[in-house]
Amino acid sequence: MTEIEEKEAKKLRKNKKSKDKKKKKDKKSKKRARECDDIDNKIDKASKKKKRQRDETYDRKDNVHVRIDDKPNISTADGNIKLSKHFADSENDTQTISSIKNSNNTSKLPFDYKYILAPMVGASELPFRLLCRKYGATLAYTPMMSSKQFISDDPTYRTTEFQTIPEDRPLVAHFSANDPVEFAKAAKLVEEQCDAIDLNLGCPQRTAYVGHFGSYLLEKKDRELVCSMVKAASKATKNPIFVKIRLLDTISETIELCRQLKDAGAALIAIHARLRASFERKGPGARDGPAMLDQVLEVKNALKSTGDDIPIISNGNIITFDDVKDNLSFTTADGVMSAEGILDDPTLYLPRYGEVEKNDPMITITDPSPLSFSSTSNSQPNLQEEKKIRKLKKKLSQIESIETKLKNHDGDIKCLQEGQIAKLAIKDSILKEINDIEKDIEKSNESEDSHETKKESIGPKQQTVPLSTLYGVAQDKVALANEYLDLAQRYPTIIRTIVFHTRRILKNLLVKYQLMEECVACTSLEQVRCVVEKIAKYREDPTSFKFDLEKAKREKEALERKRHEEGKRKAFEARMIRKAKREGLEDREYYLKQGAKVPTADEVKRLRKLPRDIQLKEWKRLDHTQHCMSFHLDEGGCKRGRACAFLHVDATGSNTFVESEEVAG
Ligand SMILES: Cc1cc2nc3c(=O)[nH]c(=O)nc-3n(C[C@H](O)[C@H](O)[C@H](O)COP(=O)(O)O)c2cc1C
Repeated sequence: MTEIEEKEAKKLRKNKKSKDKKKKKDKKSKKRARECDDIDNKIDKASKKKKRQRDETYDRKDNVHVRIDDKPNISTADGNIKLSKHFADSENDTQTISSIKNSNNTSKLPFDYKYILAPMVGASELPFRLLCRKYGATLAYTPMMSSKQFISDDPTYRTTEFQTIPEDRPLVAHFSANDPVEFAKAAKLVEEQCDAIDLNLGCPQRTAYVGHFGSYLLEKKDRELVCSMVKAASKATKNPIFVKIRLLDTISETIELCRQLKDAGAALIAIHARLRASFERKGPGARDGPAMLDQVLEVKNALKSTGDDIPIISNGNIITFDDVKDNLSFTTADGVMSAEGILDDPTLYLPRYGEVEKNDPMITITDPSPLSFSSTSNSQPNLQEEKKIRKLKKKLSQIESIETKLKNHDGDIKCLQEGQIAKLAIKDSILKEINDIEKDIEKSNESEDSHETKKESIGPKQQTVPLSTLYGVAQDKVALANEYLDLAQRYPTIIRTIVFHTRRILKNLLVKYQLMEECVACTSLEQVRCVVEKIAKYREDPTSFKFDLEKAKREKEALERKRHEEGKRKAFEARMIRKAKREGLEDREYYLKQGAKVPTADEVKRLRKLPRDIQLKEWKRLDHTQHCMSFHLDEGGCKRGRACAFLHVDATGSNTFVESEEVAG
């Protein structure tokens, strides 16, 4: 072979090699694509048949007309509520919504609604509401409660989800609902303990999609249902009915919606100025991003121009009090509502009282947190006692570790330092002291209970304090966090919520002193207090804190991992939408509906007793594949929490609704 021939042959071999390589690569990526399709097809399986059934169901649903004159038949004589439910399929039985006369609708509500704490699942709970009220919020919403579960015969859900005290007013009870009778019934049940009832039409979460509530009721096809809920509740309760919405695709649609809600009996509309949730929508106005405040102004103007005088609340993008002022003057809204901003700074609305520099005015506030003012409650000594106990218990645990050390050295006292021996000697006196204080607390709690009862009968207390005292705490995040923790101790709240608020209030300091990880891992209020104490200590003596480079690296990696995990759900949704598009399905959310059926409490109860492989089969058979099995069936629930790519939606008919995920309603 000549040199040229050899070169040619080499070239051919090289070409063949690279072609083979390419072929292999193509084969591999085809295989991967097939695998992806297989996963998608798993959802697809059996769904073709179900689609037909589902379409039929949806069609039926769309055609259901809620009879507007559906009078909730309420009997209050025995405290029981009886409501009758009439649905009619005939057009004749259906009144048009615009013809409804509303009686509750009023622009003059008997309370101040200018500075509002937004409804927040897992975050606008009683202690946080009290804190925000003290620092300027004039109105507060409860977190979202499911009206279906609220009206259950079993009062567990009601009592755990709806916590309030006389100082917690004016209060808006905020519900999710998709049934007029249930909503009206829930409204009636809370009417004495709140000042208004609100319907959630803003929640964009997947849980809302699956449960068909929140912003997923904003489509035209549900308009009659939505208005009939407002109407039924306005008739059922003496309280005004509020509605919290998101923007619709066009401003004229939003204006039309507001008019219809007003006509149905809504007494106030809070507009979260971001667009209604959509799985396909990206860019400005979508789930996140800046609020479109110009549309609030347009709604306000349009309603004013036709004499539809209904308070409009502007919600979105309020971080500082300057934003409050700008928002009010730009939108001309009747009030503002804040969520993210007030989470970071519960004293957000404090400047509404004025400035300290000018003259330190005396401010009268409804005493929302009896703990913070010794003169108003006998609970202050209680707190001090509890602090003492904590210190004593800390000492006790040190003594116990000295004892362990001694035991490990077969009781040889030489292994201990002088100070440690001295500590051992005082163990009994510490135990006695703890015992005595605990008895005292018990006694004072008993007397406080009677004080509480007395207080309930005389209504909320008022306090007059110099404004500078409020500013003093507002400027000291540690003091503010401690005030929140005092409230959370007095009005017990789930630990996740306590950690959440502490994390938000102290964010900068937790990051600065590398305590975020420790704070997030806390499983008791005591542990959270220890973290806050550490911050206070580092702040007092900055030399006691040493920055740990390794820890910083670990924290960064953990955060990235968490973000990645949390993104899985969205990635799944996007894949399902793409698949539907690829297949040319008209219903782009078709695949998102497969496996989305919410498990019932009875199913969960039954499945819990079965072995895992059968559970799995049943889960598929019952069309729950998008729901997290661990969340429903495992002893301690799902450990992945927010990072779980599956849905965490409470079983229908259960009383354990602990929806504490962050949502942007
Ligand atoms: C933690 C958290 C929980 C929320 N829960 C609810 C809710 O239960 N109901 C609701 O209508 N909106 C809920 N939202 C949305 C807020 O009420 C508010 O509309 C939204 O955050 C926009 O206001 P912002 O820009 O001030 O944050 C929640 C928001 C957050 C941050």
